[in-house]
Amino acid sequence: MDSDKYPTESDRRRFVKGVAGGAAMAAISTAAGAAIEGTTTGIGTGGGTVTYRAAKNTDGPAPRGLPQIPLELDDEGYLKGVWPESEERELEDGSTITVAEMELGGVTYSTQWFQYCGCQTFQNVQPDGDYDNYMRYSANTRLGWQSDQTSIGERVHVDHFEDYAEWGNGIGDDGYGKPANCTWRSEDVDSEETLPIQVIRSARVERAAEEDEWLAASTVDGFIAFLNKCTHFCCIPGFKDSADAPKFGAANKSYCGCHQSVYDPFEVVERSFTALPRPNDDG
Ligand code: FES
Repeated sequence: MDSDKYPTESDRRRFVKGVAGGAAMAAISTAAGAAIEGTTTGIGTGGGTVTYRAAKNTDGPAPRGLPQIPLELDDEGYLKGVWPESEERELEDGSTITVAEMELGGVTYSTQWFQYCGCQTFQNVQPDGDYDNYMRYSANTRLGWQSDQTSIGERVHVDHFEDYAEWGNGIGDDGYGKPANCTWRSEDVDSEETLPIQVIRSARVERAAEEDEWLAASTVDGFIAFLNKCTHFCCIPGFKDSADAPKFGAANKSYCGCHQSVYDPFEVVERSFTALPRPNDDG
């Protein structure tokens, strides 16, 4: 299957050691870094054109991919999303803006990546929002293994994914990747402000990380994660959690049942979008 190639050549941004690869990565970082400078509007701050890394949208009405969340494992094997340190930045007009961004794997990773679908107003998406950043199992899952073997709110642990290389549930091919439906930065927030996260552990991710600087930095031990809000109308897609997915070419992809958008979590691409402004920092 074509999705067995990861990522496809057309969108592949190979990690090439040396001057040429370094220059290419520098160019990407400059573009993303510049975007935040001109982003104050009368109705908020921190919006504007943002370049980000995404699970590619391969079909359906969604306009663009799902933003990736860099991951790390703590010393005890619990999975965490990376959230950059926030800082105040002065704009050309003398006003200040709070940002949270960092250089990671040759990419400027910014929390602006998550400012869409209303999330821009959520406290947990504010750059200085203070959370422990652990991934936790969601109440919202149709994945039998997750319901059987984990508890809602339990932190995601690497031991729960030991069978990832051969796991399957009858949807698509076995051994493609083991998913979990999770939440992030969502303890003690109103339910409508929960951030739904798709976590997948896959040997495909491990292989890709061996030759891609960004994936080497943003994935860990085959784990990859995305903010799981469809860029069409904000429904929650799923990987191998809908029997309808194969009818729409999504047996081994993420499928949004609302209007049949499809995303490929094994094809990470660079995309741009207009991040919606946050409420003004000064209220
Ligand atoms: S396809 Fe419409 S909300 Fe996902």
